[in-house]
This record gives sequence, structure tokens and C-alpha cells, in this order.
Amino acid sequence: MNIIVTGGAGFIGANFVYYEIAKHPEDRIIVIDKLTYAGNLQTLAPLEGKVNYRFIRADICDKDAIEDIFAQEKPDIVVNFAAESHVDRSIENPQVFLETNIIGTSILMDACRRHEVSRFHQVSTDEVYGDLPLDRPDLFFTENTPLHTSSPYSSSKASADLLTLAYHRTYGLPVTISRCSNNYGYYQFPEKLIPLMIINALHDKPLPVYGEGINVRDWLYVEDHCKAIDLIMRNAEPGEVYNVGGHNEMRNIDIVKLILKYLDKPESLITYVTDRKGHDLRYAIDPAKIHEDLGWLPETTFDKGIQKTIKWYLENQSWWEPIISGEYRDYYEKMYGNR
Ligand code: NAD
Ligand code: DAU
Repeated sequence: MNIIVTGGAGFIGANFVYYEIAKHPEDRIIVIDKLTYAGNLQTLAPLEGKVNYRFIRADICDKDAIEDIFAQEKPDIVVNFAAESHVDRSIENPQVFLETNIIGTSILMDACRRHEVSRFHQVSTDEVYGDLPLDRPDLFFTENTPLHTSSPYSSSKASADLLTLAYHRTYGLPVTISRCSNNYGYYQFPEKLIPLMIINALHDKPLPVYGEGINVRDWLYVEDHCKAIDLIMRNAEPGEVYNVGGHNEMRNIDIVKLILKYLDKPESLITYVTDRKGHDLRYAIDPAKIHEDLGWLPETTFDKGIQKTIKWYLENQSWWEPIISGEYRDYYEKMYGNR
């Protein structure tokens, strides 16, 4: 099969490309990525020259480029990871989120219709459900929880989900959607909580915890997410939506303290800063449907996953050093300078 992976030079997309190439070497992977600040070709460099892999630099909003690629590559499956993905950036500049996350998704689906692609899989997020209260640990997001978003980022992802389901109902496009909780693992861009805290701690820099640090996220090791997407895109019925999460809820402050403990750094590095605007309180996924329908279960415990992740960042400074010494420095100064 020919599988187009958009956003394959980003964090989850790249992990997915490696997962697919190891699990299904008979398939051909074509990565489409615009290489925004979050895309890094160095992540995929070991794949250059492989016969079952091709990288194409293109914007999913560029209709003509997408049409040419589909005509050449004749994909059987298209998996859409390409997105603007950082909530804080969406609060600063919503426009590009609407373009890539909504318009880009519709351009891909139009190409899928024209070329009769047999599966379009939209990689979505638990953030489309909004948040849950901190004092109701009995509540979880199910696939039937109403969409109710907080940030420009989550609103753009929810819009894309609605469009995806509309293309299924109106045009019969064979789509599936996965809504996953927070991922962590190798190759995550340092703007996100876990890599940011690891890298700041390594430099003995302050660790900026928003508000009181009591917001809860439901963390999943990235490879478990990749496995879920692989199962859904190959086996699920068209039109189905699956939540993906491993019942691993943690408060931000507890994650930060754990990272400091593993790096043998003092808690005095923790600095409480002004809260994120509209900050979602708690995410928590009910993964019963994907377990029952497709037999998916997470394999990596948080303790094992976080230790692997910390070790990877320690051993792969050559991956993240160029990032933090480039334009990221200006971003960091702008976002955290006066917080
Ligand atoms: P990321 O920001 O690390 O990577 C996004 C990739 O998309 C980058 O390589 C970037 O260059 C590319 N891209 C951006 N705009 C593009 C465009 N217009 N055309 C082509 N490529 C473009 O993001 P991530 O964390 O890997 O997230 C991937 C997907 O998974 C996103 O759709 C996100 O909403 C979703 N998701 C992320 C998480 C998480 O915890 N990170 C959890 C659930 C769902
Ligand atoms: O839930 C899935 C979502 O998880 C994905 O859809 C998003 O693409 C992904 O970025 C992530 O969103 P979050 O906003 O939850 O992730 P982030 O790493 O930005 O923040 C995690 C928590 O940590 C959140 O409560 C905010 C807090 N935080 C974050 C940063 C960057 C801090 O306290 N300090 C920080 O410096």
C-alpha cells in the first residue's frame, strides 16, 4: 500500500513513520511536510534513500502541489498529522491555525475524493472536548462527549473533525478520526511541557509552571498512540471516531518534580508564572471503545516512558541544541520574558 503521512517531520508524525516502516516494511511511506518551525528533517534523515520512503516538502494548503503528489503517488491511505499544534502559539496568532488545521484538512480530503483514496485518517485531540472539573475524578471524555473547545487551537481541531465527518456523510469519504490525550517521547519540540522542563533543568534554568501547576493532563507514550492509529486506519469502520488514552492522569507540578528528581536537580528551579489564558483544567480519556473494538491497550507505563524520554534528551543534545539556539530563543523570550 502507498501511505501518505502529512506532518511526518513533526513529533508524532515522525514517530509514526518509524513505527510503520518497522511494522509494515511492505508498504511505501510518502511524507508531506511544510517544514514549519516544528518540522525537522534531521529527525527523518536515517530514512533517506530507502526504497519504501519518500519525503516531499509541501504545504497541505497548496491545492496544486497536493493534487500533483496524489496523481504521482496514488495513495491508498492518507493520515493527517500536519497541524499547528501548540496552544500558546494559537493564543498569540490564531490565523495560521485556521489555515492549516481547517483549510488544509479540507484540501487533503478533496484530493482523497478525487483520487478515491480508501481511507483518510484525521489525527485529532482530546482537546476538542474542552475540559473536565478537577473535583470530579469520576468523569471521562467518551466519543459521545459534546465538542466544547477553549482555545483557537482546539477550536480549529474540532472544526476539522466536524468537516471530516461531514465529508463522510455528504460524499461517502471513508474517514476515521482518533482523539488522543497528551503525548510524550522522542523528537518532541522543546516548546511542549515535558521537553521544555527537561532542557531547562539541564541548563539549571527556571522551570515555568503555569498558575498553581494543578492542571491535569492524561499522558500517553507516543509509540502507543502510533499503534492505535495504525490499528484504526487499517481496521476500523469508515465514519468511526476513537478516543485514545491510557488512564494516566497527572498534575503538571508532579511531572515537573519527577523530571527534577530523575535529573537530580533542585525543586528551587520551579518558578510559578502567569497562567495560560483559558487554561483547560483536566483532560481524561475513556479508551473503552478502542479496547473493545480493536484490542488496543497501552504498553509503556509512564514511569518507564518518562525515563526513556529523559535518557533520549540527554543522549541526543545534537538534535535539540540547534533548535534552542535558533529562532526558538526569540519565541522563548517573547512567551516567558515578562511572565
Ligand atoms: P508538531 O507541531 O510536532 O508537528 C506538526 C508537523 O506538521 C510539523 O512537522 C510541521 O512542519 C507540519 N506542518 C505544519 N503545518 C503544515 C502545513 N500547512 N502543511 C504541511 N505540513 C505542515 O505536532 P505533533 O505534536 O506531532 O502533533 C501532530 C498531530 O497530532 C496534530 O494534528 C495534533 O493536533 C495531534 N495531537 C497531538 C498531541 C500531542 O500531545 N502532541 C496529542 C493529540 C493529538
Ligand atoms: O491533549 C492533547 C494536546 O496536548 C494536543 O492536542 C496538543 O497538540 C499538545 O500540545 C498538548 O496540549 P497541552 O496544552 O496540554 O500541552 P503543553 O505541553 O503545551 O502543556 C501541558 C500542560 O503544561 C498544560 O496544562 C500547560 C502546562 N505548561 C506548559 C508549558 C509549555 C506549563 O505549566 N508550563 C509551560 O511552560
